[in-house]
Amino acid sequence: MTLHQKPNTLQTDSFWMPFTANRQFKKAPRLFASAEGMHYTTVDGRKVIDGSAGLWCVNAGHGRRQIATAVERSLTNLDFAPSFNMGHPLAFDFAERLAEIAPKGLDRIFFTNSGSESVDTALKIALAYQRAIGQGTRTRLIGRERGYHGVGFGGMSVGGMVANRRAFATHLPGVDHIRHTHDLARNAFAKDEPEHGAELADDVERMVALHGADTIAAVIVEPVPGSTAVLPPPKGYLKRLRELCDKHGILLIFDEVITGFGRLGTPFAADYFGVTPDMMTTAKGITNGTVPCGAVFASRKIHDGLMTGPEGTIELFHGYTYSAHPTACAAGLATLDIYKDEGLLTRGASMAEYWRDALHSLKGLPNVIDIRNVGLMGAVEVAPRKEGVAARGYDVMVDCFNRGLYLRMSGDSFALSPPLIVEKSHIDDIVSILGDAIKRVA
Ligand SMILES: Cc1ncc(COP(=O)(O)O)c(C=O)c1O
Repeated sequence: MTLHQKPNTLQTDSFWMPFTANRQFKKAPRLFASAEGMHYTTVDGRKVIDGSAGLWCVNAGHGRRQIATAVERSLTNLDFAPSFNMGHPLAFDFAERLAEIAPKGLDRIFFTNSGSESVDTALKIALAYQRAIGQGTRTRLIGRERGYHGVGFGGMSVGGMVANRRAFATHLPGVDHIRHTHDLARNAFAKDEPEHGAELADDVERMVALHGADTIAAVIVEPVPGSTAVLPPPKGYLKRLRELCDKHGILLIFDEVITGFGRLGTPFAADYFGVTPDMMTTAKGITNGTVPCGAVFASRKIHDGLMTGPEGTIELFHGYTYSAHPTACAAGLATLDIYKDEGLLTRGASMAEYWRDALHSLKGLPNVIDIRNVGLMGAVEVAPRKEGVAARGYDVMVDCFNRGLYLRMSGDSFALSPPLIVEKSHIDDIVSILGDAIKRVA
């Protein structure tokens, strides 16, 4: 056993952990040592089922040798190549393969390294496009309350999770938010898309009335907000959003960082809901979580709208050193092969009903106030304790971990999104451990 596998000898001071209560965590670290298929193994040798596909990213399950082999080959063959004014074939192959599975028309691909970068890239493309087509007054960006779009200044500004915004006073100017769709009074325990709330999309009209359509460049939403604990959109909501954006010349961006790559039983949420945005932001499942990578899928209208000016001029002054990194492209291509060979981009559809019924079997347990599901996403929400939000959620999460289930908590909700290779027996395990934890702790 190497030093870093012994928690009692672990030095925890130097690593400033992201999105973690550092002082609390370091008193009793929860440490994974390895992973295979649907399971992690902890440093003390316990198997823990992965209820959240890592951080919504390990869609094909853990330990995929095909990806490891492709990464190794790529690293030894071409460790790095610039994508500024130079290129390498894997990048073009990867973009073509992504274009093949994209919703119709969204087949121009800009590579990034993360969801946050994809979001900031899409927002910048939206602004540049509006300017290029003579709509330079359209500089306003509209997000949605409870949205999560990563942690860059752009994504944070259009995001709507209070704790992610509050400490950082400086936001982008000219950003506003439409209302969120979480409505426990009307929709608690709804299955799949809730009945009530399509009219909340009309908030776009409120923004137009307040600011003027000619000041608004784009609206960005997650088709299914994930980090804010899985909020399936009300029936008809996204279609209405699309219609209103069209009516007012506003671009619509779907942040599919979580919903992309099969999460809902279709390649993208755009396919599931039958609504095509102007741009889609992705990351996570694009490489099965193995190598940092993201991509913005843009429509031809947007791409071609920016391909103007003299041929020798850079059309978009934007990009990252590691955009289309060879290792990421190799990992991504191997990931797409697995998705295709194993039918994983649509497999969720055949499991969704079992998943829904299993989750909703927890209705009636102490303090459970809502259960939500769509595709292979789901959440169980418990009432907050008097002492504060997330206290009950934290205790349930720790109890689950101790009994062999890893899941994401968001406040007092437990967000679930298993790898898409999940079998019914795994779903049974996930739901029974969570149910027991709620009974014991909540
Ligand atoms: C919808 C959405 N957008 C953006 C991001 C940010 O992605 P990253 O953490 O890779 O920057 C996330 C991360 O969870 C996300 O869920």
